[in-house]
Amino acid sequence: MPDSFKIDFQAIGPVEGGDLVVFVGDDLKPTPAVAKLLGPKAMDLVGRVAPIERFKGKAQSVLVLTAPPAPSVDRLILVGIGGEKERGKLNFTQLGGLVAGRVSAKGATVIADLPGVEAGPDAVSDMAVGARLRAYSFDRYKTKKKDEDKPEGATRLAFAVADPAGTKRLHKGRDGLAGGVILARDLVNEPPNVLGPEEFAARAEALRKVGCEVEVLDERAMRRLGMGALLGVGQGSERQSRIVIMRWNGGRANDAPVAFVGKGVVFDSGGISIKPGGGMEDMKGDMAGAACVTGLMHALASRKAKANVIGAIGLVENMPDGKAQRPGDIVTTMSGQTIEIINTDAEGRLVLADVLWYIQDRFKPKFMVDLATLTGAIIVALAQEYAGLFSNNDELAERLTAAGQATGERVWRMPLGPEFDKMIDSKFADMKNSAGRNGGSSTAAALLQRFVNDVPWAHLDIAGTAMGSPQSDINKSWGSGWGVRLLDRLVRDYYEG
Ligand code: BES
Ligand code: MN
Ligand code: ZN
Repeated sequence: MPDSFKIDFQAIGPVEGGDLVVFVGDDLKPTPAVAKLLGPKAMDLVGRVAPIERFKGKAQSVLVLTAPPAPSVDRLILVGIGGEKERGKLNFTQLGGLVAGRVSAKGATVIADLPGVEAGPDAVSDMAVGARLRAYSFDRYKTKKKDEDKPEGATRLAFAVADPAGTKRLHKGRDGLAGGVILARDLVNEPPNVLGPEEFAARAEALRKVGCEVEVLDERAMRRLGMGALLGVGQGSERQSRIVIMRWNGGRANDAPVAFVGKGVVFDSGGISIKPGGGMEDMKGDMAGAACVTGLMHALASRKAKANVIGAIGLVENMPDGKAQRPGDIVTTMSGQTIEIINTDAEGRLVLADVLWYIQDRFKPKFMVDLATLTGAIIVALAQEYAGLFSNNDELAERLTAAGQATGERVWRMPLGPEFDKMIDSKFADMKNSAGRNGGSSTAAALLQRFVNDVPWAHLDIAGTAMGSPQSDINKSWGSGWGVRLLDRLVRDYYEG
């Protein structure tokens, strides 16, 4: 498996050297054009080897023929796409990841001519994205080379397509999507000593290079705005909190923006309500919501999305300290509402309360979607298969669900409502930040809802999907970059043009 790919698009024609990847159906047949390209010798070999290896061309199955007599390539790799039913729901990104995982570092040509499936520039471009995501690994801090066989530099991965120029053009923008996912993964994987709020903010500021406007609020600015909830979380840390607002203005000048908000707790020790030691290192990923928003802004700007988009992230560190916030404290939010701190480990909702309020108040967005590694309870409910979706708006919820189906980053709607809202009423303040274990994800969402007024809003609890995620054809990384593809798709399908 190569470390990185140099993606190329070329016309379909004879291939020599490296690996050659072709697609076959459950009848073991490629398209007639590909059969001709392979020639009778190779087709004959496939016919003999397939039954021996029990290769039936099922979706996601692979047969590798090493040193075939012809064509003159190192390996002929057959990738199954199954029968008509499976072909109908092919995910090209995933398919690209599957292919990338099988090619050698010497380079490969993929004949993007699939039997019974239309694979235009869009599909091929998705495959190339999948290949790049598959190749990603975070090894910045590994000083010992693992594999001497790996060549210096990128491996060439060429897609042979009907329309090379058109595919190249489309992919120029689409490749920014892979870049956005990779940016999000890098941020999540970085250790917390390296990535504090200021360092994270600096990486977000780098988005100016792709054409985003970036604004950073420091603690003084937040204090002036009255953001007592966010500041309370950060007050036990040696590091200063930050809010970063990224703007991509690709739409019409007076068109209201859409807004994405991310929880960016760079490290969540739990604070005074300190977490148990086991697995605490994972809490370096408690900024995955913010990482996703940053990666999304990179993706949208790179492909010059025709939409006005705001990305806002609340960056804080939650630490125990003599100056740290205590259980029993009451903080006043920017909205004026007060929150009694029951558990300093329920900090994400405090950060989001102020950022959500600020964004809806200042920008009057068409909608807000927030992403947060908010509750362990969502992992109990949905494992790592779905993110929890909470929304005050059915249309937005349905659109997110559809985008989830299309990208494979799936969401499952969870309940909000007066029952849960009541549970966070406090004896001493307007609300409390924890209502205990029962319905933990819904009571957390209920608190957020008190800070969004009537704006269509959705909250995605990504505690299960953003890190330590199940490995897949397009992800071998601890930080998955979950949500970048989902939200890019949401914007692309419903809010552009
Ligand atoms: N960041 C955690 C949630 C989390 C847990 C994310 C596991 C990823 C993996 C959050 O800040 C938290 O500590 N939530 C508490 C809330 C409780 C104190 C009400 C939780 O889920 O236990
Ligand atoms: Mn916490
Ligand atoms: Zn947290």
